[in-house]
Amino acid sequence: MTYTITIHEPENIRKIEAEADTNLLGFLRDASIVLDTPCAGSGTCGKCRIKVSGGQPAEGRELALLGEQAASEGYRLACYIYIQSDLDIYPDTPKADSKILTDIAEARFGLDAVVSKREAQLKKPDLNDQRDDVRRVMDAGGIAPPLELKQLRGIPDIVRAHDFSVRFIDFNGEWIGIEPGDRTDACYGAAFDIGTTTIAAYLFDLNTGERKAVHACLNPQRRFGADVISRIHHAGEEQDGLKELNDLIISCINDTLDVLIETAEIATDMIYGAVFAGNTTMMHLLMGLNPTAIAVAPFIPATTAMHRIDPADIGIKINEQGAAVVLPCVSAYVGADTVAAVLSCGMTENEDVALMVDIGTNAEIVLGNKDSLTACSVAAGPAFEGARIRCGVGGITGAVDTVDFSGGISYTTIDQAPAIGICGSGLVDAAAGMLDSGILDPTGRLNEPDELPEETAKQYDGRLITIDDERAFLIAGEDEAEKAVYLTQRDIRELQNAKAAIAGGIVTLLKETGLSLEDVKTVYLAGGFGNYINAEHAARIGLLPEALKEKTRSAGNAAGSGASAALLSKAALKAFNQMTSEIDYIELSSHPGFTEAYVDAMMFPED
Ligand code: FES
Repeated sequence: MTYTITIHEPENIRKIEAEADTNLLGFLRDASIVLDTPCAGSGTCGKCRIKVSGGQPAEGRELALLGEQAASEGYRLACYIYIQSDLDIYPDTPKADSKILTDIAEARFGLDAVVSKREAQLKKPDLNDQRDDVRRVMDAGGIAPPLELKQLRGIPDIVRAHDFSVRFIDFNGEWIGIEPGDRTDACYGAAFDIGTTTIAAYLFDLNTGERKAVHACLNPQRRFGADVISRIHHAGEEQDGLKELNDLIISCINDTLDVLIETAEIATDMIYGAVFAGNTTMMHLLMGLNPTAIAVAPFIPATTAMHRIDPADIGIKINEQGAAVVLPCVSAYVGADTVAAVLSCGMTENEDVALMVDIGTNAEIVLGNKDSLTACSVAAGPAFEGARIRCGVGGITGAVDTVDFSGGISYTTIDQAPAIGICGSGLVDAAAGMLDSGILDPTGRLNEPDELPEETAKQYDGRLITIDDERAFLIAGEDEAEKAVYLTQRDIRELQNAKAAIAGGIVTLLKETGLSLEDVKTVYLAGGFGNYINAEHAARIGLLPEALKEKTRSAGNAAGSGASAALLSKAALKAFNQMTSEIDYIELSSHPGFTEAYVDAMMFPED
C-alpha cells in the first residue's frame, strides 16, 4: 500500500509516493529535505520539526518535546511519524548560513612544505648508456625500488615528453610521482579541519606559503546526528551506513576543493597535497573505516596512525600523483584535531604550563608544556552547539550570541538578524546573568516569581514564563512579532551537565599531573564556541575555574592552524607525529576521580 506525500516548497510542489509505515524522517532525507536531527532520529532532541497536514496530531512524548504552541501551529516531529495516510508537508525556509570560525594563527614553522616538486634533467640514453627508462629515473631521482605498476606505466612517455627533462613530486622528502619537465612548477596544497559540525579548508601556494583561499561549510553528515556516537551508530547499524557517511564527506571535500580552486583561479591538478585533521571518528569515516569499536569499551580505533593515501583511492579530486594525508590521532576520543590545536598553540615548545580546551560536541582538554602533555576527552554533550537546548541553535545567522543583564536585558545576534534561537556563547552569558540576578539559584533551579525579591520579580516581569508546564526565562521575543527565545529548566540542567563535564575534566587532569591552578600560565580556548565564549561568564557558571579566567586566550580555529602547519612544514608534521606517541591519554569514563569531580562541578558557584 502506498500514500501520496505532497511537499510544498516555496517554488515547487512535489508529489512522491511512499510505502505505508515508512518513517517520515528517512523519507524526507531521501527527498533531499534535510532537517536538524541532533539525536539522529531517536526521538529525544525535538529538533526535527516540520509542518504537516494530514495524519494524527502529536501526542505523548512527541508533544512534550515539540510543545503545545508548535503543535497548534501544525508542527510534528518527523522521526515520530510512520506514514499511514496521504500527507502534505511544508518545509520551513532553509536556515541561514552558519558562522564558522576560520581564523588561523600565523605560521610559526618555517616554510618547507610536505609536498614539493623538483626539476631534473635526465641524462639522455645513447649507445654507451643503455640504462632503461626506469633505472634512469630512479638514478636521477634517488628513488629506491620497487615502483608500482601504475607508476611504471607512465614513465616511457613522461621522460620523452620534454626531452628527458622531468619534475619529481616528493612527499616529506620521498618521491611519489613524476611529470614532464614542461609542466609548471605551480604546487598547491589544501589543509582541512573536518569537524563533527563544520568543515574549514585552507588553500596554500606550497612554493611561497601564501594562503590563497579559505572556505567553510557545515558537515553534511550531521543529518545522521549531531555527535560522533550517532554517526558511529549509523555507520555500524545501518546497511550501507558507512558508505553513506563516507560518500557525504568525500563529496563535501570535493565541493570545497572546487570553491578553493575557483577562488584562487587555479586548476584542480595543481593541488598536490591535501592534509586532513579531525576527531578520530571523522578520520575513520573519511577513510571509510568501520568506527564501531570506538563507541564501546575499551574504545579501540581501527587506527590512530598517520596515513598517506593515493587521492584516487579515497576519491579526493586533486592531482592523481599527489598525496592525501590523514593526520594521526592519540586515542578514540583525542583526535588529530586536538593534536593540531596543541601544535598550533605552541604547547610543545614552551616551558610554561598551558591548558588547551577545545569545546565542540565533545570537549578535549590537554594540559602540560614541552616536557609532557596529558589529555582527556569529556562528553560535554552538544549543548553548546545548540542540541538538546529547546531554543538552541548553532552559530548561525540570527543566533543570540551575547546576552547582557546590566540595566535590563539586551542581546546581540549573529549578523544582527532577528533572533531565531540561542547559541553556546549566548547560553553561557544568559546563565551567568540569571545567576547574578538571582533568577537561577546555585543548584540550577529557576526560581518562581514569588520566590524572588519584589524588585527582581518586577524587573523581569514578563520574562519568567511557563512553557508547556515548565518554568522558563525569556531572553528574546518579548514582542509577539518576534520569535520567542527562552531557556527552560531542562535546558539549564543540560547546561549543568555539559559544564560539569568540562570542569570535572580540568580538575582530574590537574590532579593526575600533580599541577595546580597557579601552575597554569595560559588557557587556550579553541574551536568555534571557545573562541566566542566570555571567559568571565564561563567562570561565573563554573565551566572554567575562577583562577583561570584572566589567563584565557582564544586560539581561533586551532585545528585548522595545526593542519595548515603540518602541510606547510615537514618539521611541524614530524612534531605532530611525535606528539601522538608522547601525549599521555587518560580515559575518564571509568575514572573514579573524574566522577567525583563531575558531581562536585554540577552546582553553579555561589556569588
Ligand atoms: Fe527527531 Fe531528534 S527528535 S531527530
